[in-house]
Amino acid sequence: MSLHIRTQRMTVPELVAMKGQQKIVSLTAYTSAIAKLIDPLVDFILVGDSTAMVGYGRASTLSMQLEEIIGHTRAVVDSTRLACVIADMPFGSYQESHEQAFRNCAQVLARTGCDAVKLEANQALAGTVAFLVARGIPVMAHVGLMPQFVNVMGGFKAQGLTAQTGAVIAEDARVNLEAGAFSLLLEGVAEGVARQITHDSDKPTIGIGASPACDGQVLVTEDLLGLGGERLPRFVKQYADVGAVIREACGQFADDVRHGRFPEARHCYGL
Ligand code: KIV
Repeated sequence: MSLHIRTQRMTVPELVAMKGQQKIVSLTAYTSAIAKLIDPLVDFILVGDSTAMVGYGRASTLSMQLEEIIGHTRAVVDSTRLACVIADMPFGSYQESHEQAFRNCAQVLARTGCDAVKLEANQALAGTVAFLVARGIPVMAHVGLMPQFVNVMGGFKAQGLTAQTGAVIAEDARVNLEAGAFSLLLEGVAEGVARQITHDSDKPTIGIGASPACDGQVLVTEDLLGLGGERLPRFVKQYADVGAVIREACGQFADDVRHGRFPEARHCYGL
C-alpha cells in the first residue's frame, strides 16, 4: 500500500514510478463487494481471468468470455476510486491478429473505464503488445506460467526451473518490455529468473509464486481468504478462514429458520 493517503485513482505512470521506491501491492477482485473492501489497501486491482476458476468453478481460464471480463471489470471500476484497475484479456480475444487485439482491448477500456489490460505474452505476442501500446493501450505482460497455455504446458507447473527454460522466460520478458509493456507479471517463475528479470528491467515486476525478488506481489483474494477451494497453489499464504465465518453465520440463519425463529433483525412489515 502507498504510504501517503491517496485521494485519486492510481495511474499507470504512478505505478511504474513505484519501481525501486516502494513495493507494489495488488489483489484480484471480480465483484463490487471485494473491490470496495480492497480499494484502499492495494495499488492496483487485477480483474483476472482466474474469475473463470474462482468465480465460476470452471477447470481452467480458457472459457472466460470477453463479455464476462467486461461485466466484472465494470463492477470493479464502478465500486472503486483509488486503485488502478487492470483487466485480464481472455483467451482467444487477442491472439488472432493485431487488429483483433486492438478491437477487443479498446472495447474493454472504453466500456469499463479500467486503466490497462494484461496479456499473457510470450515472444510471439510482442508485436501485438507494440501495436496496442502505440495506439494508447497500456499493457502489462504476463510471462512464466501462463494459465492460457495450460494445454501446452500439460498443467499448471512452475516455469524456468532449468537454465534453458529460464532463458526463454527472460527473453519473453525482454522483448515484451522492448515492445512497450509498462510492467511484467511473473507467475510461477524460479527465484533466480525472477530476480534477474527484475534487476534487468526498468519497469516493475509483479510476482505470484515468483519469489520475493519481484517489485510487487499479487494474490488471488479468495485464496488468501481461505475461499480458494481445493486447488490452492502451494505458495499461497492463507491469512484468514473466511469460509469458516460464512459457514457459521449461514448455519445460524438456517438453524433459526428451521426452529421457527424469525431470521430478521426487526419485523419491519405489517406494523
Ligand atoms: O487471472 C489472474 O487472477 C491472474 C493472477 C493469477 C495473477 O492472472
